[in-house]
Amino acid sequence: MNATPNPNHIKTALPGPKALAMIARDAEVISPSYPRDYPFVMSHGRGTEVWDVDGNRFLDFMAGIAVCATGHAHPQVVKAVQDAAAKFLHISSDYWHEEMVGLGERLAAVAPMQTIAGEPAMSFICQSGTEAVEGALKLARYVTGRPRFIGFLGGFHGRTFGSLSFTSSKYTQQKGFSPTLAGVTHVPYPNPYRPLFAGDDQGAAVLDYIRMLFQRSVPPSEVAAILIEPMQGEGGYLTPPDGFLAGLRALCDEHGILLIFDEVQSGIGRTGRMFACEHWGVAPDILTSAKGLGSGLPIGAVIAKKSIMSQWKRGAHGNTYGGNPVTCAAANATLDLVRGGLMDNAASVGDHFIARLRELQRDYPCIGEVRGKGLWIGMELVENDGKKTPATALCDAVVTRAYHNGLLLLSCGTSTVRFMPPLSVTTAEVDEAIALLRTSLDQALAGA
Ligand SMILES: Cc1ncc(COP(=O)(O)O)c(C=O)c1O
Repeated sequence: MNATPNPNHIKTALPGPKALAMIARDAEVISPSYPRDYPFVMSHGRGTEVWDVDGNRFLDFMAGIAVCATGHAHPQVVKAVQDAAAKFLHISSDYWHEEMVGLGERLAAVAPMQTIAGEPAMSFICQSGTEAVEGALKLARYVTGRPRFIGFLGGFHGRTFGSLSFTSSKYTQQKGFSPTLAGVTHVPYPNPYRPLFAGDDQGAAVLDYIRMLFQRSVPPSEVAAILIEPMQGEGGYLTPPDGFLAGLRALCDEHGILLIFDEVQSGIGRTGRMFACEHWGVAPDILTSAKGLGSGLPIGAVIAKKSIMSQWKRGAHGNTYGGNPVTCAAANATLDLVRGGLMDNAASVGDHFIARLRELQRDYPCIGEVRGKGLWIGMELVENDGKKTPATALCDAVVTRAYHNGLLLLSCGTSTVRFMPPLSVTTAEVDEAIALLRTSLDQALAGA
């Protein structure tokens, strides 16, 4: 089963000379704020494979931060983009065209409000995850007339002021930008691996904590919405305990609070279902999507129950580039491919991947937990102290060694390596990645 790493794929010292030159030019003219983890300088890509400017070949198991759902340069997506671009590049969301309406229809068909709750959905099309979250928050305030929100510690929702007010996976995201939006209260995200509350059911404990807030400091009648990632991404690739999302839904219904699921990272087939919330059969009132939706072209969407979004009056919310024909064409081709087989591939290759990582866990005590669904997988690393102390330095070292071995990874949370390859990844590529990961773990543990 073990594929051997192919050292011939890495031909130069990393970063190579062309990469180094590009990084030096960048340092002069591009903002230093980007949180870049290692010096990969892209030349081109195909499927799961990418090449740097020095001709080194890598397996991309972070897919441009869970964006390249269909793999790099999928021919069907590229053709859809080329065809749309040849017709017109822009008209603005104040006008109508086939690609935008077609996208609205596709999203309405796959929206969990429809597939789980049987309620029709409408979409507001935008350009990014953060813009989708801003739209969702504005919609919730607009229709409820309520000022407050509840979010979750460890959540990541974007970096513009509204979404940033909820983002709390690392303090550096908020540091220096206070004050953010008033009226946002954070509560813990349930994590059975690192329980914060007494008892076995961390989900029930978090719901009780919210009830306590409702009694003491956050009047529920003032809460417009609860915003949550149904599977928490940047905060550590966490899977909620069974029953938690249903409990949250019931709590929202009890108090007339809207439930917003941020599926910017977990949606569009990544977990083996179109949206992660389908694993628990719980539908939100509003859902945000982006990342995988456009296979790399910048597009996002606020998807809401029609009964809610139809309350927006003309001019209440808008943008210039929403519904851009080229990005909508990419999204339409992406959704057709995801529904046409890639989502099923994510489920089956994901099962294989998780099984291979659990094999690895038997050999490496530093692997505390392997968790996830489909191609949304986290591997949490811990110190060898019997206390599950997060092995943050080891996690960083594994990601760095993996880059040097030809495998692109990212971390999340305090010490979790996350795996989010394109949904088109094959079992052979997963096996190759496992071999590269084994080498990387050995090197990182040896302090290389
Ligand atoms: C769950 C979630 N929401 C929102 C965002 C923000 O998306 P963008 O970077 O496109 O603004 C991200 C980005 O990582 C995310 O993971």
